[in-house]
Amino acid sequence: MMQTRTQVGIVGAGPAGLMLGHLLHLRGIDSFIIENRSEEHVVERVRAGVLEQSTVDLMHEVGLGGRLAAHGMRHEGLYLAFGGARHRIPMAELTGGRAITIYGQNEVVRDLIAARTGTGRPLRFEVEEAGVRDLASLTPSIRFRSGGRLHEVACDFIAGCDGSHGICRPSMPADRVHVYERTYPFAWLGVLVDAAPSSDELVYSLHDRGFALFSMRSPHVTRLYLQCEPDEDIARWPDDRIWAELTTRLQTSDGWAPRAGPITQKSITRMRSVVVEPMDHGRLFLAGDAAHIVPPTGAKGLNLAMADVWRLARALEAFYRSGDETLLREYSGRALQRAWRAQRFSWWMTSALHRAAADNDFDYRRQLADLEYLVSSRAAMTSLAENYVGTPME
Ligand code: APR
Ligand code: PHB
Repeated sequence: MMQTRTQVGIVGAGPAGLMLGHLLHLRGIDSFIIENRSEEHVVERVRAGVLEQSTVDLMHEVGLGGRLAAHGMRHEGLYLAFGGARHRIPMAELTGGRAITIYGQNEVVRDLIAARTGTGRPLRFEVEEAGVRDLASLTPSIRFRSGGRLHEVACDFIAGCDGSHGICRPSMPADRVHVYERTYPFAWLGVLVDAAPSSDELVYSLHDRGFALFSMRSPHVTRLYLQCEPDEDIARWPDDRIWAELTTRLQTSDGWAPRAGPITQKSITRMRSVVVEPMDHGRLFLAGDAAHIVPPTGAKGLNLAMADVWRLARALEAFYRSGDETLLREYSGRALQRAWRAQRFSWWMTSALHRAAADNDFDYRRQLADLEYLVSSRAAMTSLAENYVGTPME
């Protein structure tokens, strides 16, 4: 068995694990990152694309804002569409200048992998049989198989950044963990389209036939979603059916509609909310999707992951600088506070904009009244805007 040592062992090279590794590197703290998928898979998989203001700020602070500044698309507002009309929420105006930036999660991951590679610190893709041990001791460790050999990395701490299907959370004693969970009775069918976005800003739509969302990835690529059944068979959605449904649900009476073009990718995303409490056990700390999952409606998943690792890096820095464990002890409680706030907002956006099979006409009219109130009240719009652009990480 190959044996090595590091300060922080990081399981998972998604945005959480990679950003944590980078934040620690900038503080002179060593880490060892393992990932079970290939580098190509991690970079190419199609994921979210909305960065909160604080995530954008963090990318700049850590020296990775170059491509983001060049290619990110800053949006100072968004549209809510219902009853045939589009209503703009002027987010920046309502929040003292905060905005969101469209920049694909895969671009964030690309930037983070390039930074990691530049440091020469370990990042192993395609590891097998990863496991974590002795979490409650001062000498936890990670084991995995790579290149046909078994490896053991002795650590001071382990960061479980291994997403919703990882091994870190299941390694916590079941009787010490509470998992809060809710599944939603629908899913999103998402498509990537080779077409210039026909709106400068996102359009979230509630239609009689269900939710639809207009988003984008670049000046040439449109990203669209529509609410579908949770067990939807994608084979039942040929391109012309997708376009018919998207157009019906998104077009507004001012003549706006998404611009059509070749569909280059199709997938179905199930929707659930999960929170794991606490987010730590001994010297294991969970971050990102390993600890909480939000439905995509509020666009919070990636941003919550970034807020977690920012907090965790600061706590580890304090520990290594002075031996003070206060911030480490506070990590779970503080991170959960932010996670629950994001859950509440994501649940609310989801409930406000989707049609559930169990709902009747009354519920739909109530939803329309809710949105009507929202776009006519500066206070209500401000509440949406400040949650959507996100609060500072502290
Ligand atoms: N060993 C090593 N790596 C693992 C293991 C394992 N046993 N299990 C999972 N992983 C890896 C996954 O392959 C993935 O690359 O952990 C990584 C977790 O990354 P993400 O799923 O991207 O989660 P996170 O970094 O927390 O980022 C949250 O990602 O899921 C989206 O919408 C979510 O945008 C949010 C963001
Ligand atoms: C996206 O562009 O992928 C996107 C945008 C907004 C969301 C979710 C996903 O709420």
